[in-house]
Amino acid sequence: MAVMDKKHTLSSIRDMKANGERIACLTAYDAGFAQILDEAGVDIMLVGDSLGMVVQGKESTLPVTVDEMVYHTRCVSQGNSHSFLLADMPFMSYPTPEQAVSNAGRLMKEGGAHGVKLEGGREIVAVVTRLAHAGIPVCAHLGLLPQSVNKYGGYRVQGRDPEQAQSIIEDAKALEKAGADMLVLECIPRSLTEQIMAAVTIPVIGIGAGASCDGQVLVLYDMLGVTKHKLPRFVKNFLADADSISTAVEAYVQAVKTGDFPQQEHGYN
Ligand code: KIV
Repeated sequence: MAVMDKKHTLSSIRDMKANGERIACLTAYDAGFAQILDEAGVDIMLVGDSLGMVVQGKESTLPVTVDEMVYHTRCVSQGNSHSFLLADMPFMSYPTPEQAVSNAGRLMKEGGAHGVKLEGGREIVAVVTRLAHAGIPVCAHLGLLPQSVNKYGGYRVQGRDPEQAQSIIEDAKALEKAGADMLVLECIPRSLTEQIMAAVTIPVIGIGAGASCDGQVLVLYDMLGVTKHKLPRFVKNFLADADSISTAVEAYVQAVKTGDFPQQEHGYN
């Protein structure tokens, strides 16, 4: 696969949406994998707080600390040359706009992130506004919010109920208005994704949200089958038909770009 020679920025990611080019995103937690993803042409690397589960073996993402996110973001940053590097703001690192700016600042200054991702809807508008005013690229995360797992009582598809679906659409519009630059939609019905796509202009990256998004993201360990847990239906194991991790990641990038992934079987009604 051809290695791109230019570094991604927020505006190159926006251009991809404008040109109808699908955005390939994967999580990364260390320099070695980051280099493989970078060489395979991954457009956005996300240092997800999923590291709490896949790297640290915890039951949820909740125990992950800002220090741990800074450490892993710095590791990924060492291996990355071209991808836009997003870092998750962990649970309780953005309860106020001031704390959000301070912690996002650490992820960027100490970790080398190009932007941050945080979970929530209209309740985080003040935080997103403040981050945007501070010049920090923001990716908002809607749908299934893993940091709220204790409220849901499990990891479940969100937005099937018409009232909740409408609320998620209003959240998306409010977050864009507040200055969010991108949106991640996790585990929602395809029809709701289509309505959100029509309601916002920022790039939308999906995980279990159907094929209509501008891009797709998966947890790296899941798409390589490095887990003993039962995987959600939206995951495809790309290593199963590949002869190396590099070719598996290249196959993922190719499948996202051509629209071969996700298929109908990876989404929800
Ligand atoms: O933490 C993470 O890996 C994520 C992705 C699932 C989008 O938030």
